[in-house]
Amino acid sequence: MAEKFIIHPCGPLKGEIGIGGAKNAVLPVLAGSLLTGQPCVISNVPNLSDVEYMCELVESLGGFTAWNRNQGTISIDTSRLTKCEAAYELVGKLRASFLITGPLLARLGRARVPLPGGCAIGSRPVDLHLKGLAAMGAEIEYAHGYVEATAQKLQGAKIYLDFPSVGATENIMMAAALAQGQTIIENAAVEPEIVDLANFINTAGGDVRGAGTDTIKINGVKDMKGTHHSVIPDRIEAGTFMVAAALTRGDVMLTNVMADHVKPVTAKLKEVNVNVNETPHGIHVKADNCELIAADIKTLPYPGFPTDMQAQFMSLMAKAKGTSVVTETVFENRFMQVGELKRMGAIIKIESRSAIIEGVDKLTGTQVCASDLRAGAALVLAALVAEDTTEISGITHIDRGYHLLDERLNELGACIGRAIEA
Ligand code: UD1
Repeated sequence: MAEKFIIHPCGPLKGEIGIGGAKNAVLPVLAGSLLTGQPCVISNVPNLSDVEYMCELVESLGGFTAWNRNQGTISIDTSRLTKCEAAYELVGKLRASFLITGPLLARLGRARVPLPGGCAIGSRPVDLHLKGLAAMGAEIEYAHGYVEATAQKLQGAKIYLDFPSVGATENIMMAAALAQGQTIIENAAVEPEIVDLANFINTAGGDVRGAGTDTIKINGVKDMKGTHHSVIPDRIEAGTFMVAAALTRGDVMLTNVMADHVKPVTAKLKEVNVNVNETPHGIHVKADNCELIAADIKTLPYPGFPTDMQAQFMSLMAKAKGTSVVTETVFENRFMQVGELKRMGAIIKIESRSAIIEGVDKLTGTQVCASDLRAGAALVLAALVAEDTTEISGITHIDRGYHLLDERLNELGACIGRAIEA
């Protein structure tokens, strides 16, 4: 049954919060485990519905997964893959499932995967993924809404990405891990999740060099072995809690976070007048004695400001003194939160790919709807400081990417309940 959040305004958030494993790192690593016929153990796995869908997908191909949610580990064994075709119902639930294309093709010589449809944050095509696989010798056919890729043996190739797509870099890197010869990806994505996937491939016997730079060289190996891999902390979950602390004028210590990975968010929070300090224990965000001031942001591939933090930052700017401009350059149509924030009293005008925000003294609670994961998180943050009660529907989107966001914010002093939607 669908649930909604009921959020009452709270005072400053205070306390310590441990950040979970990164959703955007564990999903490609689970896809990558299809490359090896030997058992793998993945740890620091966040308890998210997206992870559950990815495990279902691996099982639908004949793989075995055992998820110990208390320990945060998944044991995965894909020694007996029986299918190279992904079910539409599963791929429709989870766009990242398209990442199985490269590994399946490399391991079994064939992959038939539904084309991911449009989604709430733009059309999100997969042309770069497929161009890369084609350059490695795959034959690509489209029929009945599916992509079918076949190749007896993928061959290493030099691939230049028109845009440093995270997903395309991951798919090509995985396919290249078992290809014959060397693949070079130029203008590759440099996100920390790419480095995490490369580390996984390397500990499983692959040979990937240069991940984290814009040129990645992959020397194909004949086969790969089992491994144990611990997923990096989630920089977007960390950023969301940092903004929550700032917005409520709180004092919060974040642990299990990589300071380097949240640098773009830290830099912006400092510009907004919030104290952020890296300590040996974690990242300390202290905003109890400051006036929030306007700042402009422009989303960019890493190490620029992450598009996945744009919506949450906009909630902060909605209450900051002055005028801010938020420009989204990574996805078209990623301002889904704007209409709902306006219903809460924010003053925001969209002009093409920018949103112009006039900070207001008060936001007011009302009924709003989460249209996607990060837009939903932005509404939760705004509701923490809005007058009266806010009801947020569509929270399955939020549960896809944040483990019990309500309970974890409550541990810091928020007042969020869950109720069944009428
Ligand atoms: C990943 C993240 C997502 C994040 C995004 C950008 C996962 C599971 N998801 O998504 O949370 O917001 O990176 O940091 O890791 N594009 C093309 N052709 C392609 C592929 C992408 O034109 O073949 C375009 C997209 O439409 C988009 C841009 O490139 O405008 C960035 O997309 P990409 O980096 O591929 O994002 P995802 O991997 O889908």
